[in-house]
Amino acid sequence: MAAAPRYKRILLKLSGEALQGTQGYGVDGEVLRGISEEVKEVVGLGVEVALVIGGGNIFRGLSAAASGMDRASADYMGMLATVMNSLALQDALEQRGVYTRVMSAIEMKEIAEPYIRRRATRHLEKGRVVIFAAGTGNPYFTTDTAAALRAMEVHADVLMKATKVDGVYDKDPHKHSDAVRYTRLTYLDVLARGLNVMDSTAISLCKENSLPILVFNMLGRDNIRRVVCGEELGTLVCA
Ligand code: GTP
Repeated sequence: MAAAPRYKRILLKLSGEALQGTQGYGVDGEVLRGISEEVKEVVGLGVEVALVIGGGNIFRGLSAAASGMDRASADYMGMLATVMNSLALQDALEQRGVYTRVMSAIEMKEIAEPYIRRRATRHLEKGRVVIFAAGTGNPYFTTDTAAALRAMEVHADVLMKATKVDGVYDKDPHKHSDAVRYTRLTYLDVLARGLNVMDSTAISLCKENSLPILVFNMLGRDNIRRVVCGEELGTLVCA
């Protein structure tokens, strides 16, 4: 018998870069198919799923700011990139029969619903996957912070951060063969040791509101379902 889900409502944060697969830019159809199949499986278990996706595969605000662009303008471009990714993900999910709604933090009514918290909650209750686009709608914030904020607003049980590595390590596992993966960390550990989980604004928000964060590898097939069903694949950050 398939394992029962541990969580009723999750917020899944996907990196934009993961969507580009091996092609180095844009959206890789194969990756998109894989992710949407996995999300469909989790929805099939009766889990309510909210999604936040980054935009780094199309435009990275911080890099543009570093090369001289005004940070606010660069961040707004990054937010638009997240809208493009959200629409791609919506399309892939709907092609698989999953009901979705994209809600944008920046109003662009012709292509997405405006973000209204109570409406988002209603969509989730009805079993629709809600994709939160355009970050928080403000520059100087990351999509990790948007994920933490939306997770709290819709009362998600957990913020699941899908990455390219299978958890949080004491040092870079690509450079050090003796790197050790943590199975559990406190928010304070992450902040004090400057561990690369999410930016400190996002971590602090989760800490103040006791929202657990699960960091896991999204590249392994079936990992999203396995984590949702309670397998300890990555690193849990909690109080
Ligand atoms: P319920 O009221 O729970 O049935 O929600 P619903 O989203 O099905 O109803 P609604 O009539 O609000 O939306 C129908 C469709 O229009 C959905 O696909 C929505 O995503 C879409 N929609 C609703 N509001 C907007 C909007 O402001 N802009 C855009 N682009 N689409 C919208």
